[in-house]
Amino acid sequence: MADIKKIGICTGGGDCPGLNAVIRAAVKTAILKYHWQVLGIPDGFDGLIWPEKARPLLLADVSGILPRGGTILGTTNRGDPFAYKLEEGGQEATKDFSGRLIENAQKLGMDAMIVIGGDGTQKIALGLFKKGLKVVGVPKTIDNDLSATDVTFGFDTALHVTTDAMDRIHTTAESHHRVMLVEVMGRDAGWIALETGIAGGAHIILIPEIPFTIEKICEFVRQREKFGKRFTIIVVAEGVKLPEDLESHYEREKRQRPRVGTVGNIIGEAVGMVLHRETRVTVLGHIQRGGSPSPFDRILSTRFGAAAVDLIARGEFGRMVALRGDRILSVDIAEAIGRMKAVDPAGELVATAKSVGIGFGD
Ligand code: F6P
Repeated sequence: MADIKKIGICTGGGDCPGLNAVIRAAVKTAILKYHWQVLGIPDGFDGLIWPEKARPLLLADVSGILPRGGTILGTTNRGDPFAYKLEEGGQEATKDFSGRLIENAQKLGMDAMIVIGGDGTQKIALGLFKKGLKVVGVPKTIDNDLSATDVTFGFDTALHVTTDAMDRIHTTAESHHRVMLVEVMGRDAGWIALETGIAGGAHIILIPEIPFTIEKICEFVRQREKFGKRFTIIVVAEGVKLPEDLESHYEREKRQRPRVGTVGNIIGEAVGMVLHRETRVTVLGHIQRGGSPSPFDRILSTRFGAAAVDLIARGEFGRMVALRGDRILSVDIAEAIGRMKAVDPAGELVATAKSVGIGFGD
């Protein structure tokens, strides 16, 4: 058993349903099972760069937060302590605050720290571990693209949102005989799009892992119409690689518009022009990351939070909790980061989608 009296906990990167459930489980386990104190570190690692922001987390602080989305600790996807961007004398400067952060952790009496975050945040956690901070990681992302764990919390909740949206889009698409596109998140992986498409009864799914052409999409729509199906719903992953002829247009657009919604709108416009039909594009954006976690995500988050505290108690630092099959185990953070889990175009899920007639524009 490691000699621990006080631990810290922080959330980094984009928010995700289930973060509060992890915090709650970690605080409860630390206090009730091990009788430790817990410090909440606000806004990613910022609360250790400016330690006066850190605050004790008591049982009362985590009461009622299980169903709440977001994170009570706040988060940021900007504050890398190894290359912290700030303004100095009107100029943008980059500082390495990692040494200061570790000193502050010591001053606060923190014996170990739980870092909840995706790939980028875990990379920082590993850097801090190498410099002597005793960290354990908890993976999070709605994108479900971490190879170290079968599932990340947040993904299931995101799918509930996207599937509900698909059901709603269906009624309008069918009533108006429309081609409708639904753009979903997922960064460079197609998991949200693929599973939304299967759960929501999409006709075409476009994912980064399978190259597509506008002509193939249009041919699919025409075939459906021959069979009397006058509407088509296309799920588009935000990270799809556009066909070459659209790419230059995309580059131009990307500079002028925010990223979310860009590809969905470009593909929607291109399909509409070829088919001489109106198309409609719905960009689900951040609603996929908001709101209350699903029961599955609440349970996974609770298991991860409790397991992270157990890792600290056993002195297994530099490791991250993960789900494999029905077991919670741990992996080296060093092995876990930088290995993205992509959809296998030849895998069973894609094959199942194809079996039920879903096209991939390929
Ligand atoms: O990684 C989670 C995620 O929601 C991605 O799906 C998306 O590409 C990205 O974060 C959006 O980040 P931001 O909130 O910074 O726009």
